[in-house]
Amino acid sequence: MDAITAINQRTSVRSFRSDPVPRAVVEQLLDCAVRAPNHKLTQPWRFAVLAGAARERYADIRAGHRLKRYTDPSTPDALAGADKVRRETLDPPLYVIAMAAESPDEITREEDYAATMMAVANFMIAAESLGLGTYLRSGGVMRDPALLQLAGVPDKYRVVGLISLGYPSEQDPPRRRKSAAELTQWVEG
Ligand SMILES: Cc1cc2nc3c(=O)[nH]c(=O)nc-3n(C[C@H](O)[C@H](O)[C@H](O)COP(=O)(O)O)c2cc1C
Repeated sequence: MDAITAINQRTSVRSFRSDPVPRAVVEQLLDCAVRAPNHKLTQPWRFAVLAGAARERYADIRAGHRLKRYTDPSTPDALAGADKVRRETLDPPLYVIAMAAESPDEITREEDYAATMMAVANFMIAAESLGLGTYLRSGGVMRDPALLQLAGVPDKYRVVGLISLGYPSEQDPPRRRKSAAELTQWVEG
C-alpha cells in the first residue's frame, strides 16, 4: 500500500485479532520509525517492545493506575473499572513504548520530542501499509515508576507514547477532520 493511502485510511484501532505480529515485522516498522527527520541527528528515540508476559504486567500496571482515580479503590465500581482496563490492555498482542531523550537544553528537548513523535508517526503509517493497526496513547501511566521499570526506561529519557500494535479485527472508517483547506492560508503576495 502506498503512503498516501495508508495515511488516509489509518484510524486508531480498538480491537485486534490474537494473531501474533512476527518479530521481523516489528523490527521493520522500527526501522521505518528511525528514518524520521531529526535536527542535529540526536537520534533521541528509544523503544521498548512489550510482548508475552510483559504485556500482562503492563495490563496490571494500567489497571493499578486506573484504581488511583478512586478515593476508595476497593469499591465494586473501582474494581470493575480496573478489570475493564486490564481486559482492554490484553486485547492487542503487542505494545511499543516510545521514549525520548530529555536534554537539559529546552530547545533540544522540544525538538527531540517532536522528532520522536515523527518517528511514532512513521511507525504507525508503516504499520497501516502492512495491514496492521495501531493506537497511540499517552496519559499519567507514562510516568508510573512500575512502567518505567518494566520498559527499562533509561535515565534522562521519558515515555512519550504507548502504541498498541496488531492485526485489526475490525476496520472503522477514518474519523472526520476539518479539511486542510479550511485551516490553511496561502501567502503569495
Ligand atoms: C500525542 C498523542 C497522545 C494521545 N493519547 C491518547 C490517549 O491517552 N488516549 C486515547 O484514547 N487516545 C490518545 N491519542 C489518540 C487520539 O485520541 C486519536 O488519534 C484521535 O481520537 C483521532 O482518532 P484517529 O487516530 O482514529 O484518527 C493520542 C494521540 C496523540 C497524537
